[in-house]
Amino acid sequence: MLFAEVGQSLIDFISKLDPLKNIIAYPIMKFTLIHPVSGKLRYIRFIALFVAMAYISGCARIGKKEYQEGKTVYGNKAMVVSAHPEATRVGIEVLEKGGNAVDAMVAVHFALAVVYPAAGNLGGGGFMMYRQPSGEVVSLDFREKAPMAAYEEMYQDENGDIIDGLSLAGPMASGVPGSVDGMLTAHAKYGSLPLKTLLQPAYKLARGGFPITAKQANNYNRYRKTFIEHNRDSTVIPLVKLDGEWEEGELLVQKDLAATIKRIQKSGRDGFYKGKTAELLVAEMKAGNGIIELEDMAKYQAKWREPVTGKYRGATIYSMGPPSSGGIALMQLLKMSEHFSMGDLGFHSPETIHLMTEMERRVYADRAKHLGDADFWDVPKEELLDDRYITSRVKQINPTKATDSEEVLAMKLDYQESEETTHYSIVDANGHAVSVTTTINSGYGSKVFVSGAGFLMNNEMDDFSSKPGVPNVYGLLGGKANAIQPEKRMLSAMTPTIVEKDGKLKMVVGTPGGSTIITSVYQVVLNVLDHEMNMTDAVSAGRVHHQWKPNFIFPERDALDPTTKKALEKMGHQIKDRGSIGRVDAILVGADGQLEGAGDPRGDDWAAGF
Ligand code: DON
Repeated sequence: MLFAEVGQSLIDFISKLDPLKNIIAYPIMKFTLIHPVSGKLRYIRFIALFVAMAYISGCARIGKKEYQEGKTVYGNKAMVVSAHPEATRVGIEVLEKGGNAVDAMVAVHFALAVVYPAAGNLGGGGFMMYRQPSGEVVSLDFREKAPMAAYEEMYQDENGDIIDGLSLAGPMASGVPGSVDGMLTAHAKYGSLPLKTLLQPAYKLARGGFPITAKQANNYNRYRKTFIEHNRDSTVIPLVKLDGEWEEGELLVQKDLAATIKRIQKSGRDGFYKGKTAELLVAEMKAGNGIIELEDMAKYQAKWREPVTGKYRGATIYSMGPPSSGGIALMQLLKMSEHFSMGDLGFHSPETIHLMTEMERRVYADRAKHLGDADFWDVPKEELLDDRYITSRVKQINPTKATDSEEVLAMKLDYQESEETTHYSIVDANGHAVSVTTTINSGYGSKVFVSGAGFLMNNEMDDFSSKPGVPNVYGLLGGKANAIQPEKRMLSAMTPTIVEKDGKLKMVVGTPGGSTIITSVYQVVLNVLDHEMNMTDAVSAGRVHHQWKPNFIFPERDALDPTTKKALEKMGHQIKDRGSIGRVDAILVGADGQLEGAGDPRGDDWAAGF
């Protein structure tokens, strides 16, 4: 009797294994344990039982993870840090199986599209920085593009006034998505495992569902009305629960999204940019005055770009060039910082915050005037990073007095944020490093799900300057350099960055946060290189932001103490507290080669390593 009971619990355990293991183990266990046998069969039964037990324990060992996971994780070989625990697990399991950092990137990206739909995406775009163990660093631009029918005044009415919200929600807000082509382009060149295998975890998470976190449950409930308002059919929005509110731990199943991933597994690029997925996407756009056509989809191509490179206190920085403003702006900030002893001035002292603010004020003024897609606009990269220009900018800074932003002009040749971008950092066992920031822009992008295909479209068109002097959703200004033109890429602040020291990998870093991305990456680099923090402290430390206009220092609540604020106000600064800034997911390589992964405590961000 006891034998049969033990047998039944073992059988229950087997039923939790995957189907193939079931087919083998289940009948053996049933035969050996449940059915009464006599005579010689009893001995055979014991041998069979032994074989089955060995098999099951083998399965259990295979299923057991060999890696550590959490907010702060140390590893000797490999590390993944992303915005969601499930996506981080998918990535580290690819690395455990011998995949490289680019394989893990592809698997994490598709997994994030499923488990972190706020920002993980198929309907958006982004940038990848990739460092090989040889030290070679490349960058891939898979930023969205304006559709061919786009034009400069498309968000203005007949009086030239901006039509509220048109570049932010609904089908007109979307650019042609670049993420799928970006992932496949990188994989074709550097991947080692089959694409099908890398997309399988995402497929499974979409098809079988995954338990949502408390933050996600709150978010989906909060956005319910908005999703219903912007979609044709509320019954096909995966994030809208038809009966009641979401709760932590409930399974989110996304069958249409699973079918889209399957089409990409089967047909590669054509599974997204042509055929059923493209047709569903274009139909969704057309149903709401959107202008993306099948030809826009078929023509989209990610582009390899020259990384922006520079030195800072003996370290070499590699970051993203145009159409991102991130690399140039970060390098300008670091080059100016080299004129001061930031470490000696102290972390978050009034002097440090004052200097950082003054540098940021000048850098964002340059950004507004000079930066845009270099395929369409002559970006004066050399001039902006020229030592003499940097020195002249530093000389304008009064060490004890704030400059009025109105007096700060860009180089002459002649606002509340959401968290809907995401960054992930990966290092593999052979020292390859990947730094990717990807986005659908603001909160759930355009809010429009492609019916039948299960994914959200971006509202990246708002990153263009819809009209000179009119700020975008992040309060950023722009002009001709970033005006809308067919097939142009909108200017970005995304700053995926890799830092090298003494010829070795030192840091992989990046964050979401709209206009605050550049200053967040800048602060984490300073925290490590000047303030000598470990990565966990560097990531969790309070952040402070300034972007030229509006003329405020924006500290995260509690980031600056009252005495520091008073001292800054005395210098002439205006200060406005705000909510949290960014979600930095980063990896630091210690002097002994040990990896420290840090997931930002501000979100569900998660590290895993071994
Ligand atoms: O590319 C950019 O700069 C923006 N679309 C990023 C938006 C963003 O970070 C939103 N999340 N916080």
